Amino acid sequence: MLSAPIMINLELTSGCNLKCRYCYNFWRGDSTSTLDKVTVDKMDRLTEMMIADGVFHVVLTGGEPLMNFETLERALYRLTAAGISTSVNSNLMLITPEKTKRLREAGWDHVLTSLNSYNPEINDYMMHGKGAQEKIIKAIKTVIEGGIRVSANMIISESNKNHVYETARLCAELGVQRLFATRLVPAVNVENPDETDLRLDREGALRALDNLIRAKEDFGIAIGTLVSYPLCVLGDLQKYRDFVGRGCPAQRGNRMCLNANGIAHACTHEEVGYGNVFELGIKGVFANMRKWHDGSYLFEGCAECEYVDICQSGCRSAAYAYFKKMDGRDPLFVGPDNIHVPYKIEIPSEIADAVDLGRYFMVPQRIRFREEDGFYTINVRWANAFSIETDVAHFLIKKQASHQPFNLSEMVGQNQRTTLIHLAFKEAIEPVDEELKLTLAGRPELGCSIDPAELPPVAV
Ligand SMILES: C[S@@+](CC[C@H](N)C(=O)[O-])C[C@H]1O[C@@H](n2cnc3c(N)ncnc32)[C@H](O)[C@@H]1O
Ligand code: SF4
Ligand code: SF4
Repeated sequence: MLSAPIMINLELTSGCNLKCRYCYNFWRGDSTSTLDKVTVDKMDRLTEMMIADGVFHVVLTGGEPLMNFETLERALYRLTAAGISTSVNSNLMLITPEKTKRLREAGWDHVLTSLNSYNPEINDYMMHGKGAQEKIIKAIKTVIEGGIRVSANMIISESNKNHVYETARLCAELGVQRLFATRLVPAVNVENPDETDLRLDREGALRALDNLIRAKEDFGIAIGTLVSYPLCVLGDLQKYRDFVGRGCPAQRGNRMCLNANGIAHACTHEEVGYGNVFELGIKGVFANMRKWHDGSYLFEGCAECEYVDICQSGCRSAAYAYFKKMDGRDPLFVGPDNIHVPYKIEIPSEIADAVDLGRYFMVPQRIRFREEDGFYTINVRWANAFSIETDVAHFLIKKQASHQPFNLSEMVGQNQRTTLIHLAFKEAIEPVDEELKLTLAGRPELGCSIDPAELPPVAV
């Protein structure tokens, strides 16, 4: 098990300028709740903790992080200087060209914004704010002009499930790089989600994903989801490959979330807290959420599924929202028999050929390592990380420090050829040969978040 999370979702303030109908931050509507903000001093303390415990990536979120501008700027500056990658989740409505410039100078590079429909009325209904869509579109243009990469998140539910294709068109026209069609996970205080327009049934979910795939083909926009769909609802894992692989980051132990008051959660949607990070430290609160990491929350209907290591029974917070059980059924679950086309990892043949011909590879300086109990975590970029054997890690760390190329004949550890191929496929190592590097550059299947070692043998 991991010693600390790979990434932290840090809420800089619980306050928000919008009150989206679907938002999991359900307490914001409660007049007795008080607003929490991370101060600049507390941010500095958190940064020190993250450096000490080897956190690789931080998502600065909220509430609305632009409502805590000073801390946001400080966080971007300190984390970037420490070599920790960052992203910001923001509705962008408060951005200006001047603020974009300041944040960019502090290290800002990427934002995930919220855009729920091409149709202003539906978007503004969902986000509970008249004129919201117009402001967000203007803001997207502002930050793109300021040199920031933009992804957009569309929360799919009854109101907008048929709006995916046109929203993707709008995003592509604006220069948004990726659109996520994220299923709505009802907040814990919603009694009967199926009796509200916060619902999403299997048919609606699949239609939304079909339209997103069509949009990718027609507009060239990258696609994905931020909340996992159970793989069995997808059925054809080749067709829906853009939605396979991320799994549930909370169960994987990849992610931990911190509220602005320091209380930790495994999943952003969760009401249960695991202690205050300022009292227990990152590893302390992380250790308190072991039930998320040890398989306790897997649904019994998944026991025979060969994809359970990747899928992890879909979304546990959705299961809780519908059935009030952490190990309950994901409402979109169909059952393992429905997976009729397996996921096939497409490792370019050029990689295996290069390994077999004794070609040389290098460990890029961007690669980060963290020692765990009995193995290492290797971080490729952002929150993309996987486990490797200790021997292999020591070998790679040495090669990275000395800038020395190496080939299969020097490789250490078990299954040396397979390990080398997987490392190259995950972009943890790069070929020295410029021509091969160019051939592989930009191949979409490379660097994917799936760990080939976790796939069922039939699919490798
Ligand atoms: C809580 S918001 C905070 C950042 C910012 N205020 C915004 O709206 O983008 C973070 C992300 O969570 C997503 N989100 C909120 N409620 C959700 C829900 N019930 N199910 C799935 N995603 C949700 C939002 O769409 C947004 O991308
Ligand atoms: S049976 Fe369970 S683990 Fe398998 S794909 Fe379905 S939800 Fe995921
Ligand atoms: S339970 Fe897992 S998949 Fe569901 S929202 Fe939380 S982290 Fe994502």
